[in-house]
Amino acid sequence: MANKRWFHAAAADELLPGERKVVRVDGQCILLVNLAGEHVAFESVCPHQEAPLDTADIQGEVITCLFHGYQYNIRTGENLYPAAVYPQNRSCRKQFLRPLVVCSVAARTDGIWVALPAGK
Ligand code: FES
Repeated sequence: MANKRWFHAAAADELLPGERKVVRVDGQCILLVNLAGEHVAFESVCPHQEAPLDTADIQGEVITCLFHGYQYNIRTGENLYPAAVYPQNRSCRKQFLRPLVVCSVAARTDGIWVALPAGK
């Protein structure tokens, strides 16, 4: 766990599958989700226009921002929508289709630990 800033996010059995928890650390808001028994975590901020994702809809691995409907894979951070409507060769893709910032997660006997995104 060297070189990353880890914090204790939840007890090992705190979240049931499908449940989520918002954790605030050093001014950052991290959303921890029990995804069918595996925990994933990411910044709870939409990369589009920085809306909070705390209460956003999550179906499987896909989170949908309530503001404009952008969708992201919560495991990889990949923008799923509207990526498909932007041609691959358009330079604006990087600006408008930034990925969700995902965090490393470690399940230990003393709980679920999350690493803050690099540079934060
Ligand atoms: S702020 Fe989330 S889709 Fe626009």
